[in-house]
Amino acid sequence: MTQSAPHSVAPTTVVQLLRTYPAAACVLERHKIDFLCRGNETLEQACIAAGVTLPVLIDEIDVANRTVRLDWSNLPAPVLCDAIEARFHVPLADELPRLQAVAERVLMVHGETDGATLQPIAHTLDQIVGDLVPHMAAEEEEVFPLIRDGQGREAVAFIRATQREHDTLSTLLTLLHRQTNGFTPPLHAGPQWRALYKGLADLEAETREHIRMEDEVLTGVLTAASQF
Ligand SMILES: [Fe+2]
Ligand SMILES: [Fe+2]
Repeated sequence: MTQSAPHSVAPTTVVQLLRTYPAAACVLERHKIDFLCRGNETLEQACIAAGVTLPVLIDEIDVANRTVRLDWSNLPAPVLCDAIEARFHVPLADELPRLQAVAERVLMVHGETDGATLQPIAHTLDQIVGDLVPHMAAEEEEVFPLIRDGQGREAVAFIRATQREHDTLSTLLTLLHRQTNGFTPPLHAGPQWRALYKGLADLEAETREHIRMEDEVLTGVLTAASQF
């Protein structure tokens, strides 16, 4: 793998692997390793269940990572749903409350002197969480099941109908970007404050990619499939 030695990924979970190396999705699919059911298992555990040895799987992922562009548009729509859920939805279940807790701690420590900066940031983060959590739940409970059930046209209609939710999230991310001065902490910021900005920068990047994946890639795959 280009980002690290292949065998260094062995102890990671399936979800962590997919997050770092999206190209691994094709290999996992080939070995029928379910991203969602086995997302929290280590690669080693998933390999045992799938009847493939870890070195073989890692070698295949290594090849895929070097040869497959990070383009999910060649995945079948139901697999794409699994990949979006594993790569973008699942990690947020831990990451969003963690970020809120860090924001709360930073506000508690620096609120007296920097409340005017930190309070709006914490508020925007709460709004993002408040919008994102039910939005993802609706996708998991309504949109993705339609796609897995072969009802692509209905799913596209649902995605287009909820387009405004993506737009609102995008506006909130832009606001967060501005409120944090492009996620650049002030000189006097301590480690927690810096860690908060790093986490928020990652949240912005991941969420924008998440939105692009659904608005462009998933919708594109579904639209193309419905033309045949
Ligand atoms: Fe989503
Ligand atoms: Fe979405």
